[in-house]
Amino acid sequence: RQVCLPRDKTLPPVVFHYIPWFGSAAYYGEDPYKFFFECREKYGDLFSFILLGRKITVALGPKGNNLSLGGKVSQVSAEEAYTHLTTPVFGKGVVYDCPNDMLMQQKKFIKTGLTTESLQSYPPLIDSECEDFFNHELKISASNPTAKVDILHTMSELIILTASRTLQGKEVRESLNGKFAKYYEDLDGGFTPLNFMFPNLPLPSYKRRDKAQKAMSDFYMSIIQDRKKGETDHENDMIASLQGCVYKNGVPLSDRDISHIMIALLMAGQHTSSATSSWTLLHLADRPDIYEQLYQEQKAKFGNEDGIFRPMTYEAVKELPLMDAVIRETLRMHAPIHSIYRKVLSDIPVPPSLSAPSEGSSYIIPKGHFICAAPGVSQMDPLIWQDAKTWNPNRWLEEKGVGQAAVEQYTKSEQVDYGFGSVSKGTESPYQPFGAGRHRCVGEQFAYTQLSTIFAYIVRHFTLSLDADKVPEPNYRVSRNGPKGLGRFSSRIV
Ligand code: HEM
Repeated sequence: RQVCLPRDKTLPPVVFHYIPWFGSAAYYGEDPYKFFFECREKYGDLFSFILLGRKITVALGPKGNNLSLGGKVSQVSAEEAYTHLTTPVFGKGVVYDCPNDMLMQQKKFIKTGLTTESLQSYPPLIDSECEDFFNHELKISASNPTAKVDILHTMSELIILTASRTLQGKEVRESLNGKFAKYYEDLDGGFTPLNFMFPNLPLPSYKRRDKAQKAMSDFYMSIIQDRKKGETDHENDMIASLQGCVYKNGVPLSDRDISHIMIALLMAGQHTSSATSSWTLLHLADRPDIYEQLYQEQKAKFGNEDGIFRPMTYEAVKELPLMDAVIRETLRMHAPIHSIYRKVLSDIPVPPSLSAPSEGSSYIIPKGHFICAAPGVSQMDPLIWQDAKTWNPNRWLEEKGVGQAAVEQYTKSEQVDYGFGSVSKGTESPYQPFGAGRHRCVGEQFAYTQLSTIFAYIVRHFTLSLDADKVPEPNYRVSRNGPKGLGRFSSRIV
């Protein structure tokens, strides 16, 4: 490949492409990580590419992550990058369909709904969903001790079941076997890269998306209204917590806003946690030694002499170093969000330490471009991580290992309050599966609680095996949202 140099020497180099408007769409779309790594090799940490008419500048490495994720609101905008994709799915007035300051307040409301008290109530509910799922859906029993399954499909079901039973509320869970599942399917069909690139195509899937959005939003409205009438009791869920939230200017969150936030949370957690849990199980199936250590960790913390386990608790999630390392390591190698976009609102000067055209000069990322961060690249950078391509949870447990130490070496731990509570700025870190800065994920604790409880259930009850001789490689042509692989759950009790 050759370099396509822009005329203006202050602009980053452009990835060579043959067809002007189409640009690098096929090269990037085929495998974004391969594209990023190969381009980094040729152009360094900063380069631009054309994606179906859009000019995207990619800034890689910890400094690149910082430039994009730590950017000022006057310079970079997430809402300008995403609203055409998210508003038809989430609905109006929330997330990217409102000023950034309102999103920060909505994130604060969400965080209030994820208090220790509510998170504490979740593991028993997740455990009981797992019990039901493996016994009745997968029908694993003493007489039928093994189930061969498509891992991603299975985990996607378990994630939506457990998220709806906990955070979403029991009305959503009860409706999952009925109309809600159909709304979800149609809405999800409108939340794809195609919708991101082409917001308004006259395709049937777009019509289905719009119909499903309205139906799902109305469904949440009816839950709220029934609760107000006292017709249903409820638990520690997010709807209950969002009711009564008031913006700083005194305007209360409307029932419609709550409905749309609930849809946003459903969509934000579903693919990310399904992909993470699927990759984790595939790696564990490939490493029976680590799987056995996880079992021993469960036994040591929760077992008694009769081989009976005590239930998982929220507090225990934080006391399981190997479980934590297994999830961390999976997120290092398989960050579910490979590209994080922002629209550039005003020219961004690039610090020469990231990339410079020549000594004494610097690049500019011009207004009108999109800036793209890809934390997954620094998470797999062989210059930062030893054996970067090897799934090795132990790297997080070794004191002078290349996990925590690598992160600490780069991470500036400055605390910043963006309006939804003080978070470690962490924008210049090589490890950011949950993003960084003002748009950082607020679902991390929930995701860890959900994933750890599900894995604890699986480890206690089953052994795992792959249906192939190794963990599948990511294949973006077959599945954008996670691995395609078969695995076997075999009951420990036979
Ligand atoms: C934001 C990853 C689970 C809710 C983000 C971002 C990332 C991320 C990378 C930053 C996006 C950006 O900067 O544009 C993940 C991963 C998850 C996960 C890897 C699971 C393994 C969840 C869950 C929820 C959630 C379960 C809901 C309970 C959100 C919200 C935002 C966010 C509300 C803020 C969006 C913004 O401020 O622009 N997540 N997420 N996430 N996530 Fe998550």
